[in-house]
Amino acid sequence: MFELYVNGKQYKVDADEKTPLLWVIREHIGLTGTKFGCGKGICGTCSVLLEGNPIRSCITPVSSAHKKRITTIEGIPSSHPIKRAWIELEVPQCGYCQPGQIVEAYALLKRNPRASTEEIVSVMSSHLCRCGTYGRILKAVQRAQKLMGVKS
Ligand code: FES
Ligand code: FES
Repeated sequence: MFELYVNGKQYKVDADEKTPLLWVIREHIGLTGTKFGCGKGICGTCSVLLEGNPIRSCITPVSSAHKKRITTIEGIPSSHPIKRAWIELEVPQCGYCQPGQIVEAYALLKRNPRASTEEIVSVMSSHLCRCGTYGRILKAVQRAQKLMGVKS
């Protein structure tokens, strides 16, 4: 039995220790915003925060999240500048990769609200978007910085 703290709520989950955290979040807990893409830790669409740090939940066993804090796309408030900027700039196309992108961008601005263009591009380029929304993603992160009042 594993104990997880997801978006501020406690869950007790009965699963094999090697079960990927992604499946526990989606199937056991029922939060389906986090998506399955490659299953190999490459595309980033399954990203969630573990103790505030982005991880690829498709290759993270549930055992490593025992008694830890997890934040999923559902745990980021819609009033947060990052989500507001995403909506304002209509970033998503098909939308499939976007939960992972938003979670990564949210963590980046928590870590470094004043992240430079180079840093934003470098961090976000670890996520694949087959619709090619990279340009809008960069603009949305920079828009969020303005909404947060850290850049003019
Ligand atoms: S589904 Fe996890 S990195 Fe692609
Ligand atoms: S918006 Fe379609 S894969 Fe990124």
